[in-house]
Amino acid sequence: MHGDKDWFVQLARQLQRLYINLFVSTWRPFMKFKTSILCGCFMFCAAALSSMHAEAHGDVTPQAVDTHSLPPLGEELRTENPYRGLPEAIKVGVSAYTQNCARCHGIEAVSGGMSPDLREMDSECLEQKDEAKKAACFKEVDNYFMATTLKGRVRNGAVYMPPYKGVFNQEAIWAMKAYLETRRTAP
Ligand code: HEC
Repeated sequence: MHGDKDWFVQLARQLQRLYINLFVSTWRPFMKFKTSILCGCFMFCAAALSSMHAEAHGDVTPQAVDTHSLPPLGEELRTENPYRGLPEAIKVGVSAYTQNCARCHGIEAVSGGMSPDLREMDSECLEQKDEAKKAACFKEVDNYFMATTLKGRVRNGAVYMPPYKGVFNQEAIWAMKAYLETRRTAP
C-alpha cells in the first residue's frame, strides 16, 4: 500500500537509518556535543513518528464477533460464502466489519484511499454475462476474501493488514463478506 501515512513512515524510517549509518559510524569521531544533541532529537522525532503510525494503524485489539445466531459451519473452510443474502449474517457482518475493518477500509466500506475499497471486490464478476462464469467468479472472490482475511497482508516485516486466523471463525468472516456484498458498487 502506498497511502500518505505510509509514505510518511517510510520516510521517517529512512531518516532513522540514515542517521544511524552516517552520523554514528562515520561522523561520530568529529561530532561536537551540540551536534550530537541535535541528532538525538532528530532520531527521537523519527522514532515517535513511527510509533504514532503503529498506534493509528497497526496494533488494535480485534473485537470479538458473536456468531451464535448464524448456522454453524464447523471447522472445515467453505469454498463459497454460505451466507450470501442471509439477513441475519448481514446484520452480524455490519457490526463485525464496522468494529474491525472500517478503521482501514472505511466506514460503510467506502475507502478513503489508504486501503482497497472492498465494495469493488466483486465488480468484475458483476460484469460477467455468462451465468456459469459469473458464479465461478463469485466463488473465486469468496476464496480470495477468506484467504486474505485469515492471512492478513505482511510484506518485508511491515503489517499492512493484521492476520485474523485464530481471531475470527469462518462464520464471522463469511458474515462480513455477506455484508460487503450489500455494499457492492454497480459495474
Ligand atoms: C490496519 C488496517 C487494516 C485493517 C484493520 C484491515 N485491513 Fe484489509 N487491507 C488493508 C490493506 C492496507 C490492504 C492492502 C494491502 C496490500 O497493499 O497488500 C488490505 C487488503 C484487504 C483485502 C484484499 C483486497 C483486494 O482487493 O485485494 C481484503 C479482502 C481485506 N483487506 C479484508 C479485510 C477485512 C475483512 C478486515 C476486517 C476483519 C480488514 N481487511 C482489516 C488494511 C487493513
